[in-house]
Amino acid sequence: MNKRGVFITLEGIDGAGKSTQLRLLTGWLRRHGYRPCVTREPGGTRVGEQIRNILLSSANRKLTPLAELLLMYAARHQHLEEVVRPALARGELVLSDRFNDASLAYQGFGRGLGERPVRLLDELICGSLQPDLTLILDAPPSVALRRASQRGEGADRRRFENIGLRFQGRVRKGYHEIARHEPRRVKLINADRPAREVQTEIREIVNSFLSERSTLKDSSRRRKRLKSEGRKK
Ligand SMILES: Nc1ncnc2c1ncn2[C@@H]1O[C@H](COP(=O)(O)OP(=O)(O)OP(=O)(O)O)[C@@H](O)[C@H]1O
Ligand SMILES: [Mg+2]
Repeated sequence: MNKRGVFITLEGIDGAGKSTQLRLLTGWLRRHGYRPCVTREPGGTRVGEQIRNILLSSANRKLTPLAELLLMYAARHQHLEEVVRPALARGELVLSDRFNDASLAYQGFGRGLGERPVRLLDELICGSLQPDLTLILDAPPSVALRRASQRGEGADRRRFENIGLRFQGRVRKGYHEIARHEPRRVKLINADRPAREVQTEIREIVNSFLSERSTLKDSSRRRKRLKSEGRKK
């Protein structure tokens, strides 16, 4: 595939602050003339959102780890074909709230499936379409749980509480492993501090990443402006 856009993913355990940071990052990019395609997993498509409901429903506790993984990749295939691939082909900047690293962290490490089934499916479904840059928001599970519990009574919260802190600890360890193996693509960001501080670091990373890429269609003048304003905040 002739990939012309840029694919950035946000990762982290439940309640680490992904959606908050993605919202802030999107606003900042828009103010600087970018038109990012913002999406999420599981979900991002009609079919994917239905699969998301199956995955997050507390009524489906009997879902086996492998069934969970297969559903994740079913949703991911739909998401890639309907949203990510077309947007990248148009040269867009795609921002996804979670993507394939979540499968390795949650199903591979958290559920104990190991890396093999995840990597097999990833090769089949994603192949060479991997994120260009991944930001992992890293926070202790106790901090993330406190944040998630402030958010109200959603399916996410029920599921989070059912799964528990030890599970989130394994997922976090998985994310650490991913960052250790791919330091160029994956940046581990300390999310255990005020959201504004986290956002400043994210903007610096994204800014220098976009400045180095010549694939985006924006002018060098716009990139320069982004750079100078990124430093001010
Ligand atoms: N750095 C921060 N400090 C304090 N509270 C935060 C911070 N970042 C986010 N929050 C708050 O914590 C809660 C969870 O944040 P958010 O929804 O962004 O997390 P998330 O990683 O997207 O969670 P999930 O994985 O469940 O989707 C929200 O109420 C949000 O306002
Ligand atoms: Mg979220």
